[in-house]
Amino acid sequence: MAQERAACALEPEQVQQLLLSCQEAKKSAYCPYSHFPVGAALLTLDGRIFSGCNIENACYPLGICAERTAIQKAVSEGYKDFKAIAIASDLQDDFISPCGACRQVMREFGTNWDVYMTKLDGTYVVKTVQELLPASFGPQDLQKIR
Ligand code: THU
Repeated sequence: MAQERAACALEPEQVQQLLLSCQEAKKSAYCPYSHFPVGAALLTLDGRIFSGCNIENACYPLGICAERTAIQKAVSEGYKDFKAIAIASDLQDDFISPCGACRQVMREFGTNWDVYMTKLDGTYVVKTVQELLPASFGPQDLQKIR
């Protein structure tokens, strides 16, 4: 189970690297149905970056978001402690905001880490997982019954 810890402020260079990585990941998006490419870049506590893109399917519900692709790649490689995730889409006038399913999957690995939501021009807003999913259900809740 991921431990709760303080959200860490990133060095400006780390933010830039994360932003570039999510933009790069977006290029691999497989989105023939929505035509809505998304890229994500996940920074681990020890400084690694795992990227991901959305991957759709002709059986629509089987599609997966960029954020969850990145998280699944990281966890399957043994990394579960995250500092931040950055998300890029082609939206020009809005910051891309993670869906509810992705917020819940982020929350599995702690509530106090950062989500950088970008616009096409690279500007961003940052919120913690806690801010994006308040009053959440998480792993600790399963410990409360015997
Ligand atoms: N999508 C993501 O990958 N991440 C988000 O934050 C929002 C939505 C994907 C899912 C689907 O492939 C497409 O964008 C349209 O919803």
